[in-house]
Amino acid sequence: MNVVMIGAGYVGLVSGACFSEFGANVICVDVDPARIDRLSAGEMPIYEPGLKSLVQRNFDAGRLAFTTELADAVSAADLVFIAVGTPTRRGEGYADLGYVYQAAKDIAGHLSGYTVVVDKSTVPVGTAAEVKRIISEANPEADFDVASNPEFLREGAAISDFMRPDRVVLGVESERAEKSLRELYRPLNLIEAPIVVTDLESAELIKYAANAFLATKISFINEISQLCEAVGADVHSVAKGMGLDGRIGKKFLHAGPGYGGSCFPKDTLALVRTAQEHGVSSRIVEAVVEVNAAQKARMVKKIRGALDESLSGKRIAVLGLTFKPETDDMRDSPALTILPQLIDRGADIVAHDPQGIEEAKPLLPQQVSYSDDIYATIEGADAVVLMTEWNAYRGLHFDRVKTLMRGDVFVDLRNVYEPETMRALGFKYSCVGR
Ligand code: NAD
Ligand code: UDX
Repeated sequence: MNVVMIGAGYVGLVSGACFSEFGANVICVDVDPARIDRLSAGEMPIYEPGLKSLVQRNFDAGRLAFTTELADAVSAADLVFIAVGTPTRRGEGYADLGYVYQAAKDIAGHLSGYTVVVDKSTVPVGTAAEVKRIISEANPEADFDVASNPEFLREGAAISDFMRPDRVVLGVESERAEKSLRELYRPLNLIEAPIVVTDLESAELIKYAANAFLATKISFINEISQLCEAVGADVHSVAKGMGLDGRIGKKFLHAGPGYGGSCFPKDTLALVRTAQEHGVSSRIVEAVVEVNAAQKARMVKKIRGALDESLSGKRIAVLGLTFKPETDDMRDSPALTILPQLIDRGADIVAHDPQGIEEAKPLLPQQVSYSDDIYATIEGADAVVLMTEWNAYRGLHFDRVKTLMRGDVFVDLRNVYEPETMRALGFKYSCVGR
């Protein structure tokens, strides 16, 4: 099958590479020529474990190519995926669909033969219908269907999520489109991945409902973590005791500094906006968003409290900047909210991250300094704040940490360490909900 992927970002690149691994001929198109040049030269524009070798293997086999020119690729395509960004429209919460609609306009004139145009981007209900309208208006002769195939991969585990999904959702408007999409995903039959076939609107809503539900679990446990601190309970035990109930499930019950990343923050806001547009309440999701903001604010208070309310002149070593480990993505990372507030109160920040420093630099205040060595970061610190649970921080040599630090405060915002052990080592240790 001939597949075109419009947008070679996290989702487009991973999906394109995985479809080519399935055996399809895939051309990834992006408007950013620098990104296409790098990809064609075998350089990855993002850090995602396993991606480089997957791309290289399929590129070398002639099944995966990169271009800025979509005309010929689209003409020959059986399926054209739209995998461009849908960021929050500044300050409004609505998903910005400008890139999606532009992609629809870009491809309209080049469709040739029956083609399925598939929204892979996360888009509000009604977008597929609008993509259909745009293409039909621009090219009334085009023989095409639209489909919605939302993507559920997580950054840092993107390839295995794509190759072994819990389910594939196909929103379709015709049997022909369903047949074409089922054929593309056929290799997943081997692992019996469930395929949920539905109408366009339900597929679009499944993506937002799933993300909002996962965000709800996180905000729920973060709120419980606050109660744990107040009553002397341990959020680890509470989450374990809850999660072993099969109806609840133990995943996404890790208390922390609040969720971040390129999806949960923007998708929860967009779902609230969709509900508002339809005159429907979305009180739970609104509360989830509020609790997440409050959790980040609470982390600032926690760090201040650990340093006896005085941050002025205090040197804080920050371990981890990205919103989660195994990615260089800084989009909506809690660090972007928490660190500026520490700096405003006079703290002197030195930060380490295994992959995210270059992404973080333009987004954080200039006063932050960076080190690519964990122990150099910690040297002379009054406090260490562990922000992201990278594996590199799991096995710290605490004797060395203690000797290098000026103070003894250790704030673990990811509950990586055991409180008793850390206190026995002589740290003034605090974490989240324990
Ligand atoms: P991204 O910003 O990493 O990539 C988008 C790419 O599209 C960019 O390289 C941009 O240059 C390109 N682009 C924009 N307009 C274009 C056009 N007209 N033609 C060709 N290329 C164009 O975005 P992403 O993180 O991959 O997200 C894409 C979509 O997938 C979003 O809707 C997002 O919500 C959704 N999604 C993301 C994830 C994730 O983990 N990142 C997971 C699931 C779903
Ligand atoms: C998420 C969804 O999981 C994925 O299905 C969707 O396609 C894109 O959005 P991603 O943002 O890559 O994926 O990472 P995820 O592992 O879901 O983590 C999101 C945020 O929640 C991170 O900041 C993470 O630290 C936080 N989180 C996650 C918690 O605080 N606690 C948890 O228990 C799980």
